[in-house]
Amino acid sequence: MGQRGLGEEFRDELDALVESLAANLTDVIRRTDERLALQPNAEQVLQNFKEPLPLEGCGAQAAIDRLIELNETAGGNTAGPKAFHFVIGGSTPAALAADLLATAYDAITYTWVLSPAGVEMEMQALDWLKEIFELPPEWSGVMVTGATMANFVCLAAGRQWWGEQHGLDVSETGLSGAPQMPVLTSGFIHASTLKVLAVQGVGRGNIQRFEKDDFGRLDLNAFAAGLEALNGEPALVIVNAGEVNAGEFDPVKEMIELSRQHNCWVHVDGAFGLFAKVSPRTAHFVEGIEKADSATVDGHKWLNVPYDSGYAFVRDYGLMARAFRYSADYLPEENSARPTFGAIGPESSRRARSFAVWATLKAYGRRGQQRLVEHCLDIAVYFAERVRTTEHLELMNDPKLNIVAFRYNPGGMSDEQLDELNENLGARVIADGRFLVGTSKIGARTIFRPAFSNWRTRQEDVDEFAAVILELGQT
Ligand SMILES: Cc1ncc(COP(=O)(O)O)c(C=O)c1O
Repeated sequence: MGQRGLGEEFRDELDALVESLAANLTDVIRRTDERLALQPNAEQVLQNFKEPLPLEGCGAQAAIDRLIELNETAGGNTAGPKAFHFVIGGSTPAALAADLLATAYDAITYTWVLSPAGVEMEMQALDWLKEIFELPPEWSGVMVTGATMANFVCLAAGRQWWGEQHGLDVSETGLSGAPQMPVLTSGFIHASTLKVLAVQGVGRGNIQRFEKDDFGRLDLNAFAAGLEALNGEPALVIVNAGEVNAGEFDPVKEMIELSRQHNCWVHVDGAFGLFAKVSPRTAHFVEGIEKADSATVDGHKWLNVPYDSGYAFVRDYGLMARAFRYSADYLPEENSARPTFGAIGPESSRRARSFAVWATLKAYGRRGQQRLVEHCLDIAVYFAERVRTTEHLELMNDPKLNIVAFRYNPGGMSDEQLDELNENLGARVIADGRFLVGTSKIGARTIFRPAFSNWRTRQEDVDEFAAVILELGQT
């Protein structure tokens, strides 16, 4: 008998591990409501975390036990009902199970031959998403890691279009010698779009923002004048459907219609704001998006699929294929009927994000997505009312969507003093760990901006949140 090889060893280890894994997963998932939003002793726990690379290693079971211990003592519970920072979604039951299976299958959706089922699910799920958001069925799409990369794809397609308007194939020749690409938007532009424009050769500093106030609202007249000043020159317009401080919108319809009168590529960043389309209560905020050229949506936000998952939708498939061309003798030819997703987007090898998206839409349908969105809208309205009627809490916006801007205000203080008080309170809330929530600014004012995008969040959670703010505000 020869020595047992690695293959035999790993097979045996995996057999043993999957049994404990099932129990661990059950436990982790079942305690999602209870686990603290943020472990308050994380820094202490992680102080001595670093260690030299082990020569032999401790084996899978011990490593996994340690991983769970680390998450239970120094993790964040972003899946839970009390994570209101940024715009954090939860996971529907079907999406969570499907995503775990995507890992178990180790499925790769670069192209059809690697996972016919995974690629078909991506095509189907993208079609369903277009239906939900009422985007034209002939638009193309690709799944990416999130809204940053979706913006990257859409603006790469836009840049390709812009180059072609100048007789250039930017993906072949680059930008050297080309004129500056004009980009027009409002003050609501998201940091991720700035990052994208920075790396795509436009430069963060070269963006024309037409703002009428220090919150960043669009100055429509100035924007119209900016379009006129282009004199027919091709340009990119970025429409912000859902800004992060108060869930506000650019005037989507007017902006798109005005841009259409000029030679513009119109991109809509609707990372979470496009979900307004799902409910008749909010659909008017994003009326007219079908007349744009591209749109970004985030799945790990309001679709409630696990991280990471975002979608780029682009009117013209050819622009994506030219911008992200990826060819070699050993690679399949790209064709639009059965796209090689790795050749129309930034990632070549890519995990099967389609499993979770397809599964959640298959499991709950259009109606389920509407219920999820409206649940969060209800929570936002409920919490806003709670703030409005609670002494020492001051509502800073009438929520249009799922974000409620407010501040702690015990009275008798100047705005500047209140800014300092709320900044310090923000740090205390994070240190406390019961809620994961951040502060930001509306104009010069410091605010809390809880965003509600998780089916798990209940009225009692936001009641407790208000109570925690008052409790910590008094200390
Ligand atoms: C409007 C908007 N665009 C883009 C992003 C970036 O999303 P991601 O972190 O998924 O890349 C966000 C994230 O909050 C957003 O709200």
